[in-house]
Amino acid sequence: MADAKKLFIKTYGCQMNVYDSERMAEALESDGYEQTQDMNDADMILLNTCHIREKAAEKVYSDLGRLKDLHDEKPDLKIGVAGCVAQAEGEEIMRRQPMVDLVVGPQTYHRLPQLMEKVNAGEQALDTDFPEEDKFDHLPKRELPARNPSAFLTVQEGCDKFCAFCVVPYTRGAEVSRPAARLLKEAQALVDRGVREITLLGQNVNAYHGHKEGLAGLIWQMSEITGLERIRFTTSHPNDMDEALIEAHGTCDKLMPYLHLPIQSGSDRILKAMNRKHTADQYRDLIARIRDARPDLLLSGDFIVGFPGETEEDFEATMQLVRDVHYGQAYSFKYSARPGTPAAEKEDVPEEVAKDRLYRLQALLSEQQKQTQDSMVGRDVHVLFEKTGRQDGQLIGKSEYLHAVHAVAPADMIGTVQPVRIIEAQANSLTAELLHT
Ligand code: 5AD
Ligand code: SF4
Repeated sequence: MADAKKLFIKTYGCQMNVYDSERMAEALESDGYEQTQDMNDADMILLNTCHIREKAAEKVYSDLGRLKDLHDEKPDLKIGVAGCVAQAEGEEIMRRQPMVDLVVGPQTYHRLPQLMEKVNAGEQALDTDFPEEDKFDHLPKRELPARNPSAFLTVQEGCDKFCAFCVVPYTRGAEVSRPAARLLKEAQALVDRGVREITLLGQNVNAYHGHKEGLAGLIWQMSEITGLERIRFTTSHPNDMDEALIEAHGTCDKLMPYLHLPIQSGSDRILKAMNRKHTADQYRDLIARIRDARPDLLLSGDFIVGFPGETEEDFEATMQLVRDVHYGQAYSFKYSARPGTPAAEKEDVPEEVAKDRLYRLQALLSEQQKQTQDSMVGRDVHVLFEKTGRQDGQLIGKSEYLHAVHAVAPADMIGTVQPVRIIEAQANSLTAELLHT
């Protein structure tokens, strides 16, 4: 039998892309590809790209530029571009880099087998449709052994919110929810393969409407799966945090006490210009209600500084909101004008000003993260061990609050949830010892 062809996938951006990369690898198996971690060994290189900020999109072109040498050495090497840059740029990619064999958007990668027929015949293949059919109906069943006790499951895709800065409604399309029955089956199949934690993914996951009781209904039903120990979801919009979901944080044991709930800015004026459709105080009230339901919840968020028209006063309102809310961790970005979005028409805040604000916001967020990490020392938490650590005898896993935790533990504890005591805090991880050995 001929050796399997080797596929190298580079994933940029969000968890949705991580999930899509796994599914694309499965779809390409039927074309005889198996994955490699070594790019130089690959017969095909697939870049699964992100278009959210200019830097992320430009990175794809610079990476393609670097691949040119490898392609010159190995003319049979196939090169594909998938994901949101593929969706947004389409043919432009092949125009700028004619060596690219395949361009496939996030909604059409179930058509990879047909597209590969073209590629294998030496033609270029491009598909960036928003097709009628559901890609999930056409993807191979997930029969691969789970590589990790923690898995992603896409439950909802796309976004109808149209925040003024964001490309997602254009690259990922309108909101679509997958039917609950299908998701429950897929979750059961993951658990049968050793998965113990499922993170439900969606660009607007709490707008999920594939269950008559929304995302909370899906979570409750999923929590009945024996062997599934933890459920998480990401990313949420404040306007879709309904009562049932808030309550589930207090009452559903399998729903983990971690929530990523972006607000983007603490200034009402900027929130309005961003088309967020909520105020900073509505967000503060919402956080108070969620913390009433689950006082120890670890909160995460996203912020954009330097949105067009942002004054020093607006920025100070963001700093104040962060002081009021206190985040366990958060992501912050300098505004990046994206072609085709309403905000791109407006005048940018000077680069130096935006840079300085980002620096100040990140200093505050880092300080809050450090306080949160330090406050864990001496506390007992539960860790789902996922893999071996860098040091001998050490395992790495996640606490219920999504902290990375390492502890000396036997390898057969991988895939199990264990009680541990936190003994030391680092900036991005915690050291623990097992409570029972
Ligand atoms: N510029 C900067 N940050 C952005 N985000 C989305 N679009 C932009 C943009 N044009 C950030 C938001 C969002 C996160 C995924 O990326 O904070 O929540
Ligand atoms: Fe983008 Fe999120 Fe706003 Fe949707 S809700 S437009 S994905 S930032």
